[in-house]
Amino acid sequence: MINIQGVNLQMRPSRRDWLRTGMHALAAPMIMTSNARAYSVDEIEERLARGSEIEGVTKQDLPTPSLLLDLDAFEANLGRMSEHAKTAGVDLRPHAKTHKCSEVARRQVGRGALGVCVATIREAEAMAAAGIGGLLLTSEAVGPNKIHRLVRLARQQPDTMAVIDHPDNAAELDEAAGAAKIRLDALVDIDPLGRRTGIPPGPAAVQLAETIDRLANLRLRGVHGYCGASSHVKGFQARKEHSERYMGPVLDSFAAMRRKGLPAEIMSGASTGTYNIDSALEGMTELQVGSYALMDVDYRIIGGRGGEVYDDFHNALHVLATVVSKNHDDIATVDAGLKAFATDREFGPEVARPAGLTYAFRGDEHGALTLADAEREIVLGDKIELVVPHCDPNVNLYDRMYCVRGDSVQQVWKVDARGHI
Ligand SMILES: Cc1ncc(COP(=O)(O)O)c(C=O)c1O
Repeated sequence: MINIQGVNLQMRPSRRDWLRTGMHALAAPMIMTSNARAYSVDEIEERLARGSEIEGVTKQDLPTPSLLLDLDAFEANLGRMSEHAKTAGVDLRPHAKTHKCSEVARRQVGRGALGVCVATIREAEAMAAAGIGGLLLTSEAVGPNKIHRLVRLARQQPDTMAVIDHPDNAAELDEAAGAAKIRLDALVDIDPLGRRTGIPPGPAAVQLAETIDRLANLRLRGVHGYCGASSHVKGFQARKEHSERYMGPVLDSFAAMRRKGLPAEIMSGASTGTYNIDSALEGMTELQVGSYALMDVDYRIIGGRGGEVYDDFHNALHVLATVVSKNHDDIATVDAGLKAFATDREFGPEVARPAGLTYAFRGDEHGALTLADAEREIVLGDKIELVVPHCDPNVNLYDRMYCVRGDSVQQVWKVDARGHI
């Protein structure tokens, strides 16, 4: 198996081929060594550049701070969501804004997702370049740059969908699609509450649907309605009431479109916090859940059906840090600070391993661990794993994810949809 994902390595040999053809002799010092051996960063980089196995590399060998993806937890999260969707009779089009990684998207599609949602044109292009189809751009494409790129993408991948919340934008997209000789699939973006994007539910939304339906180069497919305000409401019952209250008018508009005979086969929405609430709403056809694949502190504290901790999904994403200073009995310093974590929340990261430690920011490059309740003695060079406060912006800080099972590093995936072009 080839281990750095998200780049074109098709011409590279498999491990079996590599060993059979004797190519391993070229790299004998690395490959012939046992698992107990430590690997330098240069050795790891060389092996990744060659596209060869990184078998034997452990968390101990990794540079820090770095991003870890726990494959067992990640696969369990994907499995749980896909089982839920099957049982509830809804489709999945998970949001790739969370992970910005086509290898993650590939696995979501492998588990039955129709494709992925994307928040930016950049994400859409990266997913398409990696062969991921069924893209739904959940942000409005406004202005020549975005419209040009969206239409170009839809030309290559005709199942790409846009969202529209204004008749002027519908007219611009229609014109661009006409010039490119394509028919662009579109959903009416209806705003449940946030006043971020989307037209308010009710007659105005249905009227916009009619406008889109009349335009020759657009193909109306249904409704996009994402209620971000419901996703982190604390307590399952309160969250349910919140989502039902604000999604209700969106679903009414969707039903009104259907009654008028408008094309309305897709009703897309929901979040990790409301996946098991919104999938039961009358009319909902697909879930655009994102964070469930990785998880974070922000979601753990919202409370689940069974109690105060939301544990439907596991923490699959961690930042790996190293203890770089230990001059006091009660405190140690790690090399992961403000630049290693998204800082958009009121709370910071939580230490997952070793148990009993708490973390506080100590500047751009450093964090302080409080050791009073540590499960074991903490010494210089110790590796510490931390759950991130908010997964989406945290992933966005890193170029790659090191995918691990236990202590062993198995693959490295590029965060290939990062950045702005
Ligand atoms: C439009 C849209 N849909 C879906 C999601 C996924 O939400 P979550 O990560 O809470 O599952 C987001 C997240 O911000 C979003 O902005």
